[in-house]
Amino acid sequence: MNFELKTLTRERISIEKCDAVIVLIPDSFVAADDALSKLAVSAIQAGDFETKAGKLLVSYRSPDFSATRLVLVGCGDGSAKSVRTGVLAAINSLKTSNVKRAVLSLSGLTSQADDVRNSQVCAALVACGDAAYNYAVTKSKPVPSKLSDLLLAVPDAAKARAGFDKGVALVRGITLAKEWGNRPANHATPILLAGAAKALAKLPGVKVDVLGPKEVAKLGMGSFMAVAQGSAEPLRFVVMHYNGGGKAQAPIVLVGKGITFDTGGVSIKPAAEMDEMKFDMCGAASVLGVFRTLADLKPAVNVIGLIPACENMPDGRAIKPGDVVTSMSGQTIEILNTDAEGRLVLCDALTYAERFKPRAVIDIATLTGACVVALGSVRSGLFSTDDALAKALTDAGESSLDLCWRLPLDDDYAEGLKTNFADVANVAGRAGGAVTAAKFLQRFVTKFPWAHLDIAGTAWKSGAAKGSTGRPVALLVEYLLGQTDDSKLAPAKKRVRAA
Ligand code: BES
Ligand code: MN
Ligand code: ZN
Repeated sequence: MNFELKTLTRERISIEKCDAVIVLIPDSFVAADDALSKLAVSAIQAGDFETKAGKLLVSYRSPDFSATRLVLVGCGDGSAKSVRTGVLAAINSLKTSNVKRAVLSLSGLTSQADDVRNSQVCAALVACGDAAYNYAVTKSKPVPSKLSDLLLAVPDAAKARAGFDKGVALVRGITLAKEWGNRPANHATPILLAGAAKALAKLPGVKVDVLGPKEVAKLGMGSFMAVAQGSAEPLRFVVMHYNGGGKAQAPIVLVGKGITFDTGGVSIKPAAEMDEMKFDMCGAASVLGVFRTLADLKPAVNVIGLIPACENMPDGRAIKPGDVVTSMSGQTIEILNTDAEGRLVLCDALTYAERFKPRAVIDIATLTGACVVALGSVRSGLFSTDDALAKALTDAGESSLDLCWRLPLDDDYAEGLKTNFADVANVAGRAGGAVTAAKFLQRFVTKFPWAHLDIAGTAWKSGAAKGSTGRPVALLVEYLLGQTDDSKLAPAKKRVRAA
């Protein structure tokens, strides 16, 4: 979708020629003496329209308006969240129509402080991108989404520019994350996923290295290799660099779980809904998405992206319950359940992260069914050894509307990981499964502040709307934009800071 930003007063809306004009109407809507105000007020008075977020009133070829369709949509209190609800409802209502070019007007919103306005603008764009997204790769006759051009109309374009640029960059990143998340495993093998990362190296400030089985063996990543050994698809280890900050600035490392398909291995999963385990690389996809967005926004921060990518398959060569492997850290691991493979690939990536002397390391993983039970699909699970990092991520989640919730890391939760046959077992009992998984990872993060996002419940939707959500790209971008260090700016380039 192409986005454009334009100054357009409320009076001008009635003469704007396009396929649809969408106007957000908040509870606090103040009517003036223009056609739009008159229509909104009379519809509200007649009980035909409500300003509650997401309520719609559509008119067609109305003589008072030049646009073919006029869509009034409620956006309640005008918060970013309500704006998102309103825009999603409006765009979804036009999805099956013939609308190619739409104008989305925020001119009904009362004027606000800069940060509030920018978050409204950003939320509106992200919602547009979300609603207009269309999966096409494996369809023989893809039906392209008709809506291709969206013009965002605001009372003062200059004042909305920062939120607009951020929103457009986020849509690109989120769309990329969705795209790779949605691809079936035979169209998103470790090699193809590494290729998607490589493609990002064309962007300014981005560098990408891809390691194969030989290099990974040389590094001693015995735990990662153990998961990959049951698959005919060779593993890949992706190392991405985004350099926006000065040379002296310690980087933030993002580690994305890249299991391109999780059968469970020999501890095989039940057949029902196993197809959804193609989404087990959504952590990796979110790292790709973040890099896409960073390349656009060019914030003054250094970021490393690590993606251990492989399949988890049952096979004559596959790992068996009880096998003991040696991780890159030197710790031995008894693999009691081959379906707890995410932590086995992540632990070696976390050890690899040490070489960057990072300021912080954040791993993103569809790690446990237990996290889905605990938090559902509203908030991602957050674990951290560092209170400041936990707060920064929680706050970033709130302001980007990509929520997370902190869960505990008490040492008592690690009791069940003890075994007679290795330094640690890869599973504990059923109780507190999201926490015990995090406790396993914590053994590998002694050298830096660390956070773990369990996105098992938030990375994709099941049922009729089955598909990747692109989460938590928005949360991570918001966090990174807050980590720019101006005293260590690289030679001046065009930069956009947190909007
Ligand atoms: N990829 C799964 C986690 C998962 C399961 C995410 C269902 C979303 C929905 C992970 O590799 C896994 O299988 N975890 C096991 C761990 C268990 C064996 C300790 C789980 O959660 O069942
Ligand atoms: Mn598994
Ligand atoms: Zn998995």
